[in-house]
Amino acid sequence: MVLSTDHVGRRFKQREAVHDISLNVYAGEFFGLLGPNGAGKSTLLKIWTTLLPPTSGRAFVDGYDVVHQKAEVRRHIGVVFQESILDDQLTAAENLRFHALVYGLPVALRAKRMAEVLQLVGLADRARDRVRTFSGGMRRRLEIARGLLHTPRLLFLEEPTVGLDPTTRAQIWSYTSTFARQRD
Ligand SMILES: Nc1ncnc2c1ncn2[C@@H]1O[C@H](COP(=O)(O)OP(=O)(O)OP(=O)(O)O)[C@@H](O)[C@H]1O
Ligand SMILES: [Mg+2]
Repeated sequence: MVLSTDHVGRRFKQREAVHDISLNVYAGEFFGLLGPNGAGKSTLLKIWTTLLPPTSGRAFVDGYDVVHQKAEVRRHIGVVFQESILDDQLTAAENLRFHALVYGLPVALRAKRMAEVLQLVGLADRARDRVRTFSGGMRRRLEIARGLLHTPRLLFLEEPTVGLDPTTRAQIWSYTSTFARQRD
């Protein structure tokens, strides 16, 4: 089991953002969270990615507690948030190198992993271009490459295909299913 969620809830004062969620996700699986605006999806994502503690229940990523073992959880996940976290002024390769540094990816592995993820998302020929020259879909694909660089056990994608054309959307599902198959 890669993700286990046991009666998780989150309150903000009187407002209950997440109510009693229990679910398990296994290696190689895709899990999608659907719901109207304000349903609590982003709040649950923050709990799973250790950015916000639940006010009830417990959650585990690869067996690590999202409240008590934050550092271990973070090492084992990749996250692509709705808002871009790429540096526009840097090239695609520089953005990845920065991520590798933050995650402590061994230098000996770095070039190989960078080439692999850029290849996966079809950006190998754009590695030396600055991100500010990228289209929305290309940025999104680079974000996914970044999220996969440190070989996470689990990749979280927030609103993964919003604003993307049907082709890029299909490509994103294809990269993520390749990733899921490699992981199971
Ligand atoms: N920091 C916060 N303080 C107070 N209330 C919050 C906070 N974060 C979220 N909420 C509330 O929690 C509820 C769920 O919000 P959340 O962002 O999780 O929804 P969502 O399902 O991601 O919606 P969307 O589809 O619009 O992105 C909302 O009522 C929101 O106002
Ligand atoms: Mg949201």
